[in-house]
Amino acid sequence: MKLHQDTIKTLITADQLSARVAELGAQITADLQDSERPLFVCNLRGASVFFADLIRHVDLPLVIDFLGTSSYGASTKTSGEVRLQKDLTEPLFGRDVVIVEDIIDSGLTLKYIKTLFETRGAKSVRICSLLDKPSGRRTELVGDYIGFEIPGEFVVGYGLDYDERYRNLPDVCVLDPKVYS
Ligand code: IMP
Ligand code: MG
Repeated sequence: MKLHQDTIKTLITADQLSARVAELGAQITADLQDSERPLFVCNLRGASVFFADLIRHVDLPLVIDFLGTSSYGASTKTSGEVRLQKDLTEPLFGRDVVIVEDIIDSGLTLKYIKTLFETRGAKSVRICSLLDKPSGRRTELVGDYIGFEIPGEFVVGYGLDYDERYRNLPDVCVLDPKVYS
């Protein structure tokens, strides 16, 4: 596929993604059995593809909402400054919340979101991230549900971008460093 021309290897295939997403959905369903109206928050834009697949494996009376944050821009490293670009529509007070994210790298984005949600009075805040890059961590942040742990390489596809490109790749691939160096 032409879209793959800038990638150097496939890290996680579409089949592996779909199997793992189903497992995550089942696990979350079991853990939130007693929750009345859990709120699933998609962190735009990277988590959108994962989110759409995940919620169809969660057998709960859930409500969805969307949050927009950014910290990268046209770079492969965090600027260290997280910006809220689009806020939620739903109130958080007293709700069980699951934040759905594409990847935890430095952890700064999720720390910012989690703190914000707790300040607004959420009853519980859980983090579900498709990918985790523990080597990049700059703050103490642990995800509750993680799809795959990956090495410290910059990846694209299945929602993840570099400078807004490659989100539509069906698998998770390592981007050729030539593209950004
Ligand atoms: P953090 O704040 O450093 O944890 O970064 C989280 C955000 O950075 C994610 O929501 C992604 O948008 C972006 N990001 C981090 N690593 C990668 C990567 O390897 N590929 C694409 N985006 C990434
Ligand atoms: Mg991004």
